[in-house]
Amino acid sequence: MKDIDVVVVGELNVDLILTGDVTPAFGQAEKLVDDATLTLGSSSAIFASGAARLGLRVAFIGKVGDDDFGRVALRFLQARGIDTSGVVVDPTVKTGLSVILSRPDDRAILTHLGSIAALRYEEIDQTIVSHARHLHLGSFFLLDSLIPDVPALFEMAQSSGLTISIDTNYDPTEQWDNGLADVLAHSNVFLPNETELLGVTGEANLEVALSRLARHDLLVAVKLGPEGGMAQWGPKVARADPLPVDVVDTTGAGDSFDAGFIYGYLAGWELSRSLRLGCVCGSLSTRAAGGVTAQATLAEALAVI
Ligand SMILES: Nc1ncnc2c1ncn2[C@@H]1O[C@H](COP(=O)(O)OP(=O)(O)OP(=O)(O)O)[C@@H](O)[C@H]1O
Ligand SMILES: [Mg+2]
Repeated sequence: MKDIDVVVVGELNVDLILTGDVTPAFGQAEKLVDDATLTLGSSSAIFASGAARLGLRVAFIGKVGDDDFGRVALRFLQARGIDTSGVVVDPTVKTGLSVILSRPDDRAILTHLGSIAALRYEEIDQTIVSHARHLHLGSFFLLDSLIPDVPALFEMAQSSGLTISIDTNYDPTEQWDNGLADVLAHSNVFLPNETELLGVTGEANLEVALSRLARHDLLVAVKLGPEGGMAQWGPKVARADPLPVDVVDTTGAGDSFDAGFIYGYLAGWELSRSLRLGCVCGSLSTRAAGGVTAQATLAEALAVI
């Protein structure tokens, strides 16, 4: 019956990453850049790829347009062995695209949301959900059409015996609401970065924010970039370091962290060991451009934790 470890619900799009001297010059100027990579984008899809890379059986539920970007995104997921039968192909929308202008020290992102905001609750295949042990929802704040129904989705999943994790990512409106409190009340694991945790709690201090939100029924793991991560579950607190790596591109490091952390969570590991696997998976993913190219296998990650 439970033949899927993780069903991922969220956004699906491609990333076009340009590196080199990427600051655009207007006035009809043409500048040459060092490199261009078209790869799988979107937090949810990068999470799904990372989880599959670690050996979990993964299914993806989302929406693409009937276009080449959509087909490229699906091919990336399928190449990792991910079940994409729950991805809706909607000819009335265009698949989303992010153009990432990447410099070693910083990046700028131009995103066309397209199909990202168009997934509706009625389009989610409940049979796929019921076959999974765990549900992960990514980029809550971008899923405009789904947001009002996320509590209903989580209730449906819980009644089928799934545990639930959520990575909201950034809220472009910076309101940090959209009914998130109700959504977190139905979640088992919350995976923000520091900015997002402070935004959601309205606190100024990381430790205060963490202990305010983390209960025995809500595990909170916070990503701290080059500082690694911190987690709290009831009274238990853990900290972990990242891995020193030659960073090429940090796109999606947080999603690879989530994949590692959820691997440990589902395996019943100690909080500190799950956190360390998350950090290591995040660090290893930064070794190449894009979110998915350098994602670690389980053997690779275990060798360094
Ligand atoms: N410069 C770095 N060097 C080594 N490890 C890093 C670096 N940046 C990130 N990591 C690792 O990746 C993990 C997650 O990255 P980060 O904190 O940037 O997540 P995030 O803010 O959610 O990112 P995003 O949403 O952009 O993917 C960190 O906890 C850390 O272990
Ligand atoms: Mg993130």
